[in-house]
Amino acid sequence: ELYSLKDLYSDYFEIGAAVEPDRLSGTVSELLNKHFNSLVAENSMKPGSISPTESAFNISTPNTIAQYADNHDMKLRFHTLLWHAQGADWMLKDASGNWLEATEANKALVETRLKDYITRVVTQYKGVADYYDVVNEVIDEGRPDGMRDSYWYRITGTDFIKWAFEAAHAADPSAKLYINDYNTHSPRKRDILFNLVTSLRDEGVPIDGVGHQTHINISGPSIEQISESIQKFAEAGFDNQVTELDISVYTSNSTNYDPVPEAILLQQGYRFKELFKELVRLDEMGKHADPSTAAYNPEGWISNVTFWGIADDHSWLHRSEDNRFDAPFAFDKKYQAKLAYWGMVEAVKTL
Ligand code: G3I
Repeated sequence: ELYSLKDLYSDYFEIGAAVEPDRLSGTVSELLNKHFNSLVAENSMKPGSISPTESAFNISTPNTIAQYADNHDMKLRFHTLLWHAQGADWMLKDASGNWLEATEANKALVETRLKDYITRVVTQYKGVADYYDVVNEVIDEGRPDGMRDSYWYRITGTDFIKWAFEAAHAADPSAKLYINDYNTHSPRKRDILFNLVTSLRDEGVPIDGVGHQTHINISGPSIEQISESIQKFAEAGFDNQVTELDISVYTSNSTNYDPVPEAILLQQGYRFKELFKELVRLDEMGKHADPSTAAYNPEGWISNVTFWGIADDHSWLHRSEDNRFDAPFAFDKKYQAKLAYWGMVEAVKTL
C-alpha cells in the first residue's frame, strides 16, 4: 500500500492537480482521490472557455469540477480570471471585432466589462473557490518596463491588474487572491514581479500571494534559484503557491524518449526529492520566523503545491508540434508510482 501524498505533506501544504473533466472518473480518479486534496481546471475556467462571446457564460464544466472538489473535500484553485491567451477577447474589441484603440473612453469600457465579468464569476463561486489566479502571466522580463505587451496593457496600462484584484475581493472577501506567472525563479522576472506586488499592496490592492507555475525540467533551473524567489516574496509577507508543477524529462529539443531510460527516471526522482525537501524547509521557515516580522506565518510560507496534471498519460507537454512523449509527473502513464513519487516520499521521511 502506497503512502498518500496529501497525507505525507499535510503538515506543510496541500497537494493539487490540474484536471480536465474526463479525469474525474475511472482509475485516474482513484489516484486523484488518494493523493490529492486540491483541484484546478486545466482549461475550463479560463475566460476564453467561460465567455468566448459577450453573451456566453459556460460554467457547466467548471461546475462539474467544483462539485467534485466539494464532494471529495478538496480545495479549489480557480485558474484564471484574466489571461492574454485563451482570453475573453470581446472585452477588448469593438462591435465589428477590431481591437479597441487606447482612448480614455475605451479604457473605461474595458474597466466596466472586466469588473462585470469578474464580479459575475467570483459571485458564482463564492465560498466554493478557495484561491484565484486573478491575473496570469502579465510580466514580460524581456521588455524595458517588464510588463507584457497585451491588449489589456495597451488599453489600460497596468490598471487592469488593480481592477481585477479589487473586483474579485469585493465579490468574495474570503477568497485568497494570487498573481500567477512562470519562470519566477529568474532574478530579473522575480524583481519585476516583486516591485509590482509590493506597489500594488502599498496602494491597498487586495493581493494575498504569488503563484509560481514551476514548469521545469530534470536539470534546471537550480533548486536554489526557485527557493530564493519564494523566500523573497515570503519574507515580505506574501503567501506562495506552486501552481503548475511539472518536471520534464527533456533538457533539449533534439531528444525523444519513449520509454524514458531508467537513468533519466532516477535523475527525475532525485530532482523531485530535492525540490520537495526545499519546499518543506521553506514552509517551516515561515513557522519559525521572528513573530515580529512580516516573514512570520504560523501556516508556513507555502500553502499549496499543484501539479499541472495527475499522471504521465496526459500532459500539456505532449504537444503535437513537439511530437514526443514526456513524463513529468510522479505517476506513469499506467498510473504506477515512479521514482519521482518515491523522491517525494523520501523528502518528508528523511527530514
Ligand atoms: O478544446 C479544443 C478542441 O475542441 C479542439 O479540437 C482541439 C484542437 O487543437 O483544441 C482544443 O483546445 C485545446 C485546449 O488546450 C484543450 O485541450 C487548445 O488547442 C490548446 O491550445 C489548449 O492548450 C492549453 C494551453 O494552456 C493553452 O495555452 C493546455 O491544455 C493547458 O495545459 C495550458 O495551460 C497553461 C496554463 O493555463 C498557464 N500556464 C502555462 C500552462 C501550460 O501552457
